[in-house]
Amino acid sequence: MTETAIARVYPLPAEEGLGDEDLAALYSDGAGDLPWLRVNFVSSVDGAATHGGLSGGLSDDADKRVFAILRRLCDVVVVGAGTVRAEGYAAMRVDEASERWRAEHGRTAHPVFAIVSASLDLDPASPIFRDAPVRPIVLTTERSREDTREALSEVADVVVCGRDRVEVDVLVQVLNERGLGRIHCEGGPHLFGDLIASGELDELCLTISPRLEAGVATRISSGASPIVPVGLRLSHTLVSGDTLLLRYVRR
Ligand SMILES: NC(=O)c1ccc[n+]([C@@H]2O[C@H](COP(=O)([O-])OP(=O)(O)OC[C@H]3O[C@@H](n4cnc5c(N)ncnc54)[C@H](OP(=O)(O)O)[C@@H]3O)[C@@H](O)[C@H]2O)c1
Repeated sequence: MTETAIARVYPLPAEEGLGDEDLAALYSDGAGDLPWLRVNFVSSVDGAATHGGLSGGLSDDADKRVFAILRRLCDVVVVGAGTVRAEGYAAMRVDEASERWRAEHGRTAHPVFAIVSASLDLDPASPIFRDAPVRPIVLTTERSREDTREALSEVADVVVCGRDRVEVDVLVQVLNERGLGRIHCEGGPHLFGDLIASGELDELCLTISPRLEAGVATRISSGASPIVPVGLRLSHTLVSGDTLLLRYVRR
């Protein structure tokens, strides 16, 4: 399969035909101090985070390339249960090229899958758990049902990280203590709202999909509002056709 062309247009000088090693280097730059909390989203130009209720309708091959590189680089992929249910997540596995890269860089074959849920409306028999190459983690609250926690404990490490909500600082601490300091979050919007409000966010990778969606689609963040807006610095701008791939880090 031919690789989708991605070029860097910022910082200058521009560079064409980026390979996966170039992308891995660009997305690793400055992320050396662990824990590091990165989030990745795709949005339409008018700010929609979904097309037909899913993010996939906004994605293209360039977005998928970067999506795979971000999984390759991390120790743990964190996802809100709403996104896990909506997007029909399977077990967390990287592709063969990523497995090779991870082995060469002394990483485990696959990142850990960590799911954030207050309700624990997650099926222990689902492939997420049944086919998992590494035991997943479920991050939940004191208010979740004890019997449900017990049922999920058969197939995952269930960790309480707050009373009513999973507190993001606790989540980061819990994962970092397990040696999972490269934390990569794939959404969704409610979880992202909490991440922004927590002040723990280090990086946002944002694909701008060249389309206008209109309608009532959610933004990439919703729910809790930050008391102080988080200022960002543009780290790089990649372009593939009409798609922009932006990397912002916290100021
Ligand atoms: N454009 C993109 O890149 C992108 C990325 C991801 C998702 N999406 C889209 O976003 C939509 C889902 O939106 P969403 O806001 O519902 O996603 P979400 O944030 O993944 O899900 C919300 C749910 O996650 C759990 N959760 C999140 N933060 C929590 C916290 N601090 N403590 C405890 N539980 C927490 C709760 O699960 P329980 O209900 O189990 O308690 C909550 O109901 C889908 O349509 C999906 O396709 C788009």
